[in-house]
Amino acid sequence: MKRIVAGNWKMNHGVAATRSFLREFRPADRGGEVQVLLFPPTTSLAAAAEALGDGSGISLGVQQIHPSPSGAFTGEISAEMAAEAGAGFVLVGHSERRQLFHETDEGTRLRVAAAYRAALCPVLCVGETLEERRGGSLSQVLHRQLDTVLSDPDIGTILRTDTPFVLAYEPVWAIGTGETATPSDAAEAHAILRLRLALHLGEARAEVIPILYGGSVSAGNAGELMAAPGVNGVLVGGASLKPDSFAAIVAAA
Ligand code: PGA
Repeated sequence: MKRIVAGNWKMNHGVAATRSFLREFRPADRGGEVQVLLFPPTTSLAAAAEALGDGSGISLGVQQIHPSPSGAFTGEISAEMAAEAGAGFVLVGHSERRQLFHETDEGTRLRVAAAYRAALCPVLCVGETLEERRGGSLSQVLHRQLDTVLSDPDIGTILRTDTPFVLAYEPVWAIGTGETATPSDAAEAHAILRLRLALHLGEARAEVIPILYGGSVSAGNAGELMAAPGVNGVLVGGASLKPDSFAAIVAAA
């Protein structure tokens, strides 16, 4: 399976900084073996699309969509708008959205459905808090977050075909903290997720759905994390903001 290296810029890099990043970002050519995704702020998406031009091999996504196609939702954008503006991917259920903006499991289900309505590929983020991990409920939390989305009959039908879908395991305690899951922590969680995917979609399909690890990934630890069983790539926050460190992570893939 092709590895994926995704950069989530969060609320960083406006238009000028996006252009400057993309002038400097020169990831090593991995012979088409690595798919690079960037999630800039929505206001920088058009500048990123223009700077990349055609044939860069780098795909763009948005960090957030509203479930509805249009309407009176001040401040929100729809999946259709994101697609029209050049996005091919969308992050769904990032822990910052869940924690700071009170998004629910049900909200992630609606957003995954909205993404497919507009032909975007959702990158569904799941992960446990430190309390949940210490309380022994890792599997329970991951199952709940995944089941809500996969039990939707329409989404299930889509996912049983070869429509692109990406899952990201992001332990909340490792995001932006400098604390990283060990490769064996990551492998354990990815195995839990892969089994659950198989339960819903069958083993053959579960084998080809990429599961990324995210949480304090850096140029220093990306290689060993991606070498862990079942880890098909990384979702990078802080270390994706500098062209050289992000390029080093692509090289590690
Ligand atoms: P981090 O963020 O790499 O800065 O920990 C990861 C993420 O939030 O996706």
